[in-house]
Amino acid sequence: MGSLPVVLRIIGNSWKPFKETYVCNRYGALRNPAFEPSRAFAAEAHIGNKLEYDLLWKQAQQDPIAFWEDAARNITWFSKWKKTLVWKEPYAQWFVGATTNAAYNCLDRHLKQGLGKKTAILWEGEDGSSTETSYESLFEQVCQLANALEHKMGLKAGDTAAIYMPLIPEAIVAMLACARIGVTHSVIFAGFSGNAIKDRVNDAESKVILTADVGYRRGQEVELLKTVDSVIDQMPSVSHVVVLRRKGTTLLGPKHLDWKDLLKDQSKNHFAQPFDAEHPLFLLYTSGTTGKPKGIVHSTGGYLVGVSATAKWIFDLKPNDRFWCTADIGWITGHSYVVYGLLAHATTIVLYEGAPMHPHPGRFWEIIDKHRVSILYTAPTAIRAFMRAGNEHLQKYQLSSLRLLGSVGEPINPEAWMWYHQEVGKSRCPIVDTWWQTETGCILISPLPGVIATKPGSATKPFLGIVADIVNEQGESCASNEGGYLVIKHPWPSMLRGIFKNPERYQESYWSRFPGMYFTGDGAHRDDKGYFWIKGRVDDVINVSGHRLGTMEVESALVSHPAVAEAAVVGKQDPVKGQALVAFVTPKLEQKIAVKALIQELKDHVVREIGRLPGPMRSS
Ligand code: PRX
Repeated sequence: MGSLPVVLRIIGNSWKPFKETYVCNRYGALRNPAFEPSRAFAAEAHIGNKLEYDLLWKQAQQDPIAFWEDAARNITWFSKWKKTLVWKEPYAQWFVGATTNAAYNCLDRHLKQGLGKKTAILWEGEDGSSTETSYESLFEQVCQLANALEHKMGLKAGDTAAIYMPLIPEAIVAMLACARIGVTHSVIFAGFSGNAIKDRVNDAESKVILTADVGYRRGQEVELLKTVDSVIDQMPSVSHVVVLRRKGTTLLGPKHLDWKDLLKDQSKNHFAQPFDAEHPLFLLYTSGTTGKPKGIVHSTGGYLVGVSATAKWIFDLKPNDRFWCTADIGWITGHSYVVYGLLAHATTIVLYEGAPMHPHPGRFWEIIDKHRVSILYTAPTAIRAFMRAGNEHLQKYQLSSLRLLGSVGEPINPEAWMWYHQEVGKSRCPIVDTWWQTETGCILISPLPGVIATKPGSATKPFLGIVADIVNEQGESCASNEGGYLVIKHPWPSMLRGIFKNPERYQESYWSRFPGMYFTGDGAHRDDKGYFWIKGRVDDVINVSGHRLGTMEVESALVSHPAVAEAAVVGKQDPVKGQALVAFVTPKLEQKIAVKALIQELKDHVVREIGRLPGPMRSS
């Protein structure tokens, strides 16, 4: 369906980017609005002087390696690198020969600075209950689990473990415990089905699965353990399933180990060993243009440098910030800006386990007031849904603690941007529209809130040290306002190190279309002020509510149903989700089932095969 050449032709010939942005709101129509950083914000910002920034930006464009070498000072290294970058296209190695430990950077070093009592995680449940976890307590739990993984399960550096957990502090404990002992973690979003777990666990050959009996969403229990158990016999590499029992009644089977029992006997100390900067910190599966998700491999040292530098400067992080990134840890946003980028700066983070509008449409705003959130980082889909729900749900709350807003995952339409700015940010908070991908590890295009004037709908400029361009089909730089393909022309530290066990697909997906450049798969244009306007995917990947889905993945799921002869899936514009899936299905002739019932059956089948992610499809 929709093969790449066809899409390219559409982009190349008839796709005309808007030169003007008109934003209509209750204050009237604005033409090409731009919002300068306020003096007050700039005065307090890490980067707040435009002249200094311009100079720094130019230097970092000319010598990205020197910029990143400098940024590497955000990280504690156990031994220094011999070479900053070794680049043999398409493989990069950063900080070659250096050693570090990701968990040490997120925990131990803060304790050494006397920050043990500082709150690391403010967790909020859907029912309004909440907990606070200090850096000291997080450290102790991570050490206990790391000890248990090593001594009770025999895991060692180089092994892989899967994490299939709800958005609770223990999910972060699991990630950091793996990182601490050099076990590569593979977090599987808790909405995925048994089949999706099986494919990911088998591809990664994960030895252990860390899970919980249930999660909670929309007032319902989500049966995580049951989902794991439904495929446990088809995952031969798994020796143990560690279960966090949240309900007293959950019974354990032969491969199950009780989380709390395991930790009880373990020491609250653990020596963080040094790992090579290139040691794989995690695998994260994401959708591509084929039916099979790809295991994106991320390094330790370079990844930490990328996420810590961008977290600090793009979110202008300060010691007293309370940062709420609403993404699940099952996605890259959760990895980079819930866990590693934020904890590396000893930030207090907010975690919310539940649906955004449950039990009422003001739930987000209630959480912001309750926990005095200062930075909110969320997706345009959520913003549009709240906008639709009506301002009355938001007007009950002060939102006075907010000082910065972020957007991620999909293009934000100017109307949603303006609503976010005026209604949530009260025209006081800068908005950072951050463009990046699972593969890029960290944000690559975004405003720096103290120096870059923002324009609704534009992610503005490449981050320091990121050499981005927009090229035509021949790989030549496009002129201003000419639509083309977004590419990155110089390696950056947190770039993916490959696709797990699939070097051909790595080469083909990112490095073949334009030789010498990383192809993002996105279409974009740059205006005459050098601002980037990202239009979205130009391949067979659909972005539903900020989450990536390959059309082929859904097609494969559909044709695996016995009633289906052929299936084709396309994306369709959706006012809230950005894009929605539309499936065209040809049933087998001998089909006796009524059309309506078949449609429902196929929707359920896709959920069984892939998970809740695609959401209900339209019937066509
Ligand atoms: O199409 C772009 C879109 O999301 C894709 C990456 O998806 P994923 O790997 O799931 O990561 C999402 C979270 C980083 C990109 O190829 N995208 C992401 N952020 C933006 C965006 N599109 C426009 N504007 C953004 N700010």
